[in-house]
Amino acid sequence: MNTKTRSAPEGFSDAAESYDAAVQHNIAGSERLVMSLPEGDYPRVLDVGCGTGFASAAMLRRFDVSTLVGVDPAEGMLEVFRAKLDRFPDVEIELRAEDVMEMSVADGAFDAVISAMALHWFPDKPGAVARMSRALRPGGVMGILCVGRGGEDAWRELLERIEAPPAWTGWFAENQRDVEEIDADLRAAGLEPIDIWMERRRRTTPADAFMARTRAVAGHLLGNPPDGFSELDQRIEAALHAASGPDGFVYDYCKLFAVARKPEK
Ligand SMILES: C[S@@+](CC[C@H](N)C(=O)[O-])C[C@H]1O[C@@H](n2cnc3c(N)ncnc32)[C@H](O)[C@@H]1O
Repeated sequence: MNTKTRSAPEGFSDAAESYDAAVQHNIAGSERLVMSLPEGDYPRVLDVGCGTGFASAAMLRRFDVSTLVGVDPAEGMLEVFRAKLDRFPDVEIELRAEDVMEMSVADGAFDAVISAMALHWFPDKPGAVARMSRALRPGGVMGILCVGRGGEDAWRELLERIEAPPAWTGWFAENQRDVEEIDADLRAAGLEPIDIWMERRRRTTPADAFMARTRAVAGHLLGNPPDGFSELDQRIEAALHAASGPDGFVYDYCKLFAVARKPEK
């Protein structure tokens, strides 16, 4: 097995070209997040962990945005986003290959800060929420969507059955967030939560589609060489097929949504 350790952004970069086709659920989730922000004027938007730009695009469709800064350390994801920029000729868009904790954005410079399906990859989640909050002007809004605690038991159990490494099996407890946790993170960052909710869905996904999604969102944990699949990848794929019924692999998935406002001074 290829045991070389890759970071999450490196894994996303490697899989960037297949990301859009593999994560229809993430795209739809970004839409729901953006549709849940309060009506308002948000000309300056920051999208953290912007990836290939789905949440950004949803913001540009809903609001009258004039400048958007997208931050993501995965150059490969930003390249895919860059290729879409001509769809938004009236907006000044700047994409920066930076980590959330080191992003070069000025304090109070944005009317809205969004982060879709990325917080669970940030090592320091309370720190990241605080860093994003600093970028917000008083009265500005923040919208966060991430993996919610309580879902994916069937997937975790499958990984445990095949004795996948702890980086996989321990990932869920370490990175999923619950309503109370994000509420506490937002308040500690000086924000007032407006609306926090958990969505739990039962999905039935063909094993091949589930595997494609796994390679797109967790490629760094699979250790795949550039021209093939690691032994772990193949073991997971075989287990997914074995666990699937006639319509596919059945699993529950929780998404956590949070909308908050920075108080006016
Ligand atoms: C599942 S993708 C989501 C992309 C996009 N927001 C969407 O909704 O489709 C997660 C993104 O978070 C980025 N990411 C991971 N760690 C990060 C970090 N420390 N700082 C900023 N972004 C990070 C990854 O590179 C990846 O592009």
